[in-house]
Amino acid sequence: MIRRALLTAAGSDRLRDIAAGAPISRDVVHRFVAGEGTEDAVEATRNLLSAGLLATIDHLGEDTTELAQAENTRTAYVTLLRRLADEGLTGGAEVSVKLSAIGQALPGDGEKIALEHARQICGAAEAAGTTVTLDMEDHTTTDSTLGILTDLRRDFPSTGAVLQAYLTRTEGDCADLAYEGSRVRLCKGAYQEPATVAFQESAEVDRSYVRCMRVLMAGPGYPMVASHDPRMVEIAGALAVRYERPKGSYEYQMLYGVRPDEQARLAAQGEKMRVYVPYGDQWWGYLVRRMAEKPANLSLFLRALVSKS
Ligand code: FDA
Repeated sequence: MIRRALLTAAGSDRLRDIAAGAPISRDVVHRFVAGEGTEDAVEATRNLLSAGLLATIDHLGEDTTELAQAENTRTAYVTLLRRLADEGLTGGAEVSVKLSAIGQALPGDGEKIALEHARQICGAAEAAGTTVTLDMEDHTTTDSTLGILTDLRRDFPSTGAVLQAYLTRTEGDCADLAYEGSRVRLCKGAYQEPATVAFQESAEVDRSYVRCMRVLMAGPGYPMVASHDPRMVEIAGALAVRYERPKGSYEYQMLYGVRPDEQARLAAQGEKMRVYVPYGDQWWGYLVRRMAEKPANLSLFLRALVSKS
C-alpha cells in the first residue's frame, strides 16, 4: 500500500514542486544522489573507482516533454563522458540513459529523436573508451526501447539493455538477448505495473528473477545482476559456479548509497561490482522510488523535509 502510494507520488508534479521548493537536508538527498553537476558525478566516480568499484552514471531526468530539454540531457551526457575521459575514469565507468529523458515520449517523432540522441551519446561514449546502458522504464515503452537498442547495437554492439523480472514477458526477452557480446542488466523493476503484464507478488517476482538469471548465466552474453536482495546475490553466485563462469564474466550492480558494505564485500571477493550513480537536479522521481523500495528510508526523508521546510 505504501509502495503504491509512493510510486504514484514519484510521478506527481505537485509533490515534486513542493519538495523541490523545500530546503531538503543535503545529507538525505546526497546519500542516494551524487550531486547536481557534472563535477559532482566525476568526483563520486573517482571515489568509487579508488575503492575498487565500477560505476554507471545516470543524468537524472525522465518524461521529457520538450525538445530543448531532451537536447540538454543529450549534451549533459556528452559533456560528462568527455570529463570522465579527461580524468582517466572511463576504464571503470559507463553511463546509463533513460530514453524518455532524451525525447522518446515527445509527440510525433519522439522515437526517432531519442534514437538520434542515443546515437550521439553512444558515439561520445565510444570516443571516450566506454559504453552506454539503456535503462528500462514502464511497460508501455518496453518494445520501443528494445527496438531502439537493436538499432543502436548495429553501430555500437556493446550497448547494454535492462530487463525487468516483474514483467511476465521478460524470461523470453532474456532468451532473445542472451547472445555473445550482449550486455543485459537484470533488475526486478521499479514501476507500478498492472497484473495484465506484471507479477504482483514479490515471491513471484523473485522466482521470475531467478529464472531470468539462469537464462542469462547459462548463455554466452554478459549478465549484470542488479539487485540488493541478499538471496538474489547468493543465487547469482551459485549460478555462476554452476555454469562455470569465471569472476568478471558477469557483474553485480547496486545503487549509490544502498548497501555500501555489501558492495565493498563483493568487490573484496574479486567480483565486478558496479554502482549506479545518479546526478542532476531532477532527483524527485528517483528518490521517491528508492523510498518505495525501503520504507525505512522514507522516515529519514520525511523527517528532513518536515524539519527543514
Ligand atoms: P528488493 O527491493 O526486492 O529488496 C529485497 C531485499 O534487498 C530487501 O528485503 C533487503 O534485504 C535488501 N534491500 C533492498 N533495498 C535495500 C536498501 N535500500 N537497504 C538495505 N537493504 C536493501 N528499475 C527499473 O525499472 N529500470 C531500470 O532501468 C533500473 N535500473 C537499475 C539499475 C541498477 C544498477 C539497480 C541496482 C536497480 C535498477 N532498477 C531499475 C531498480 C530495480 O528494478 C529495483 O526497483 C530495485 O533494485 C530494488 O529491488 P532489489 O532487487 O534491489 O530488491
